[in-house]
Amino acid sequence: MNVTVIGTGYVGLVTGACLAQIGHQVICVDNNRDKVAALQAGKIPIYEPGLESIVFRHSYRPIDPKADHEAASTPPGFIQFTTDLNRGIEFGDIIFITVGTPALPSGDPNLQYVEAVARGIGQGLIRTQTRSRYRVIVNKSTVPIGSGDWVRMMILDGAAQAAKEELWVGSSVLAGSHSNPRRFDLQSVLPHFDVVSNPEFLREGSAIWDTFHPDRIVIGSDSPTAIAIMRQLYEPIINHSWDPEATPEAQPPVPFLVTDLASAEMVKYAANAFLATKISFINEVATICERVGADVTEVARGIGLDSRIGPKFLNAGIGWGGSCFPKDVSALVRTGADYHCATPILEAVIETNRQQRLRIVEKLQQELKVLKGKTIGLLGLTFKPNTDDMRDAPSLTVIEQLLKLGAKVKAYDPMIQSNQGSLAGVQLESDALSLAQGCDALVLVTEWPEFASVDFDRLAAGMRRALIVDGRNFFSPQQMRQAGFTYLGMGR
Ligand code: UDX
Repeated sequence: MNVTVIGTGYVGLVTGACLAQIGHQVICVDNNRDKVAALQAGKIPIYEPGLESIVFRHSYRPIDPKADHEAASTPPGFIQFTTDLNRGIEFGDIIFITVGTPALPSGDPNLQYVEAVARGIGQGLIRTQTRSRYRVIVNKSTVPIGSGDWVRMMILDGAAQAAKEELWVGSSVLAGSHSNPRRFDLQSVLPHFDVVSNPEFLREGSAIWDTFHPDRIVIGSDSPTAIAIMRQLYEPIINHSWDPEATPEAQPPVPFLVTDLASAEMVKYAANAFLATKISFINEVATICERVGADVTEVARGIGLDSRIGPKFLNAGIGWGGSCFPKDVSALVRTGADYHCATPILEAVIETNRQQRLRIVEKLQQELKVLKGKTIGLLGLTFKPNTDDMRDAPSLTVIEQLLKLGAKVKAYDPMIQSNQGSLAGVQLESDALSLAQGCDALVLVTEWPEFASVDFDRLAAGMRRALIVDGRNFFSPQQMRQAGFTYLGMGR
């Protein structure tokens, strides 16, 4: 199928690449020229394991604007990059909107990019003279509940504007005058499309795996035609036929859940809010475990074996961060407020997470007393391993607090090489051993696998005081104590 993906951020790139991998022809559009030039040269602007090799395998370049026929005759499954929105609109039978909805200072999502793209799609459908060809417009950006209908209105608005302009010019040419534009029936020239919501549930660091092995595919739409097309698009994933090594008969098909638009949009928020709730819950239990002498890792195992609870997202630690959980839980609270619904559980989930980050600093204070002048080394900075993403990372709160208390902060993260603006005041080191040199304490912030194989004896030997706060319950307390560390975990 011909698919256009508008917005080559994290979700757009992963979606485009994976659709190419399962045999679709994909054009990715972005208005950032530098980014598109880099992508055309095979450079992926984000770190996501496996993404670069898929893009490389399916890249069809350079883009020749007149080469559509050639493109159609190349082997199935390609991905191209362009800044030309109208080219993308002309090409795709399915058009994904995957632009960002970053939080405004108020906390509300900034919808200006979604709006610009929706209007652009409407205009493009008229200007490319392809409005009568049916399209499915898929909203994959995380938007406030109810935005599907708003996207539809924006597309129609853009189309109406372009139709008026086009007909004005056309009729002026016909009539030889600008003064008497031919009247036209707007309804008769509007494009033929449906808007569908298709939330993504990708985890950074395992987004490719998640795309090919989803727990479910959710489609919000009331159009049988659009639903059928979306099912066809995802069929290779639903029945596992994309994978030559899979034995589809041994694997049940991936659930394909069809809902109305608003419910699909709500599924995304409710899923993320529930997962964040699970983490905040176990973190609260962890604090009680500490006081009563229990070990939260054992408790999590014990409750996770109950199939009604499940073992995942029960790792106690420094708390959740990233580009989705903080934004989505807050957005759901605000939606509740907008509709006069109380959300005490969600508010407590956020508050527990805020306190959890500060507990790291409290633990350091308990052991070191005054932090002023002490040197603290952070092992890891990103909000979780296998990503270079620092958005709302718990490390940022810890750094802010430590600097406020007068401590000197050093850090090492395998993915954070240069000093970023948000890391002002932090001295970056190139490995764990040099980080530990002269530190009064280390804090494990991100559980990067490479930290498991560090020489703990040398790590401890280089420190002024061998104290480690394990913010992810990543290390074996016994092993760390054997290496000479004073070990403090989270709830154990
Ligand atoms: C999340 C959702 O999982 C995904 O479905 C959605 O589409 C986007 O948001 P992501 O933000 O990539 O994905 O990270 P995830 O792996 O879910 O972790 C989120 C945060 O929770 C991280 O800071 C992580 O360290 C923390 N976490 C996760 C815990 O503290 N404990 C756990 O048991 C699991």
